[in-house]
Amino acid sequence: MDNQELKKIWKEKYLVVPQCLEKLKKISKTATAFNTNIDAIYKIKGSQLETLLKDFNIEAKEIEHITISSFNEPRDIILGITKCFTRGIAEEWVTEDINIYNWLKDNIGYQRLQMGGQGGIIGNTLALLGIKEVIAHTNSHPKLQAEQFLDLSNLLAFDDEGKLRQASLVERKEDTPLIHWIIEFDKGDAFLLDDKTFTCPKSNRFIATYDPCNMNLVMNKDFVSYLNTTKTDYLLLSGFNPLLEKNNGLALIDNAVNVISEWKSSNKDMIIHLEIASTQDKAIRKAIVDKIAPLSNSIGLNERETIDLLEVMGQNTLAKKIENNTTSTNLFDAILYLKKTLKVERIQLHMFGLYLTIQDKTFKHTPENNINGMITASVVSSSKAYNGEITKYEHLTLASDRFVSDIGLSELSNLANKLNKPELLSTGLCNFDDFIITAIPTIIIDQPKTLVGMGDTISSVSLLAGA
Ligand code: GLC
Repeated sequence: MDNQELKKIWKEKYLVVPQCLEKLKKISKTATAFNTNIDAIYKIKGSQLETLLKDFNIEAKEIEHITISSFNEPRDIILGITKCFTRGIAEEWVTEDINIYNWLKDNIGYQRLQMGGQGGIIGNTLALLGIKEVIAHTNSHPKLQAEQFLDLSNLLAFDDEGKLRQASLVERKEDTPLIHWIIEFDKGDAFLLDDKTFTCPKSNRFIATYDPCNMNLVMNKDFVSYLNTTKTDYLLLSGFNPLLEKNNGLALIDNAVNVISEWKSSNKDMIIHLEIASTQDKAIRKAIVDKIAPLSNSIGLNERETIDLLEVMGQNTLAKKIENNTTSTNLFDAILYLKKTLKVERIQLHMFGLYLTIQDKTFKHTPENNINGMITASVVSSSKAYNGEITKYEHLTLASDRFVSDIGLSELSNLANKLNKPELLSTGLCNFDDFIITAIPTIIIDQPKTLVGMGDTISSVSLLAGA
């Protein structure tokens, strides 16, 4: 079958989206935790980066081998942006140093503010999709944070007095806004340094985070006790990514384990999905694998996060192989390894052009529904990339008339060949060992208006729309 025929087959499958969107409105209660913040978005141009590199006397030979992944001084901000720009990768670096925040505020500024953090982004998306009640955890909720929540009556958070109210109307007066800098850049943009041209291979972003609440995993006690007493269908969990070992991060994870375990014992049927997120501190990453993953039913991650997990699980050879050749076939080995080692019931990779799920035969959602969930996620997330935001119901399906990408089809075809399961290419489904594999080619937007929060959107929509 050629790609044109395959595109028609997948287009037919994508017609299921309106039905899935309707079904989502039947889900009663979902909670998101822990991280909600404000994202300050700035799209940087290659020429601007060039000026900044020169201002800081950074030479071409230095940027070819950037190994750092945290800040010591403002100069490191430029190295972080450059590292991500020249490699087309996404990273988030966190800091306890307010000078980094001030430097960004005074020297870069931002073009717009929007909802940030896995919890906040997923909360907005799920509420817009019409889940009956979405409760978002916020450890800081001043007016500026409230303004990032969509004006929806089914999207709730706790106020100063411990009352559950519409999140966009809550205003906790004493709280400080938690602002993260999201520096985005475009594929094909370039800069010249020491007679060398550096071209950005893939649109992506670098995040600089100074956030005392989320870095200390501060928990809202009303939210914590709410989940101990209220039946909730899904918990979308994340927010361990800004923790640092040197900042008591391991103890904070141990504390979170107690909190989540208690939620689980009073909410036995609740499905917990853990979104891995870019986590630079290796000890924290390892603790997420060892302690948080076992409490989760489902895990979501991208290519980079997959490599990161392999690195802390002693799988350096496979990690290197994927880093050098980020293909569906190499990533499959990693996801299978993670599925078997973490013993989680469902794991989903969202890579460029393809989503892949490996799940137990006994997982609550059927594989057929999971395919429909992934298809819905492909439409919603590409609509977000195309439109720059999804703040109105009609935004959710703006990209729905598009065909799936050639890249996605070729990744899926290579995977089908590797597994010797030709049916995977046109059905998106096959059995493998004791598991079920589902995979779909996705819609790709060539010039996305935004990319931040894509993974969060994909994972949450595909899980819930696959119910
Ligand atoms: C991380 C960042 C946050 C961003 C989110 C997007 O949580 O800290 O600023 O909005 O990732 O996925």
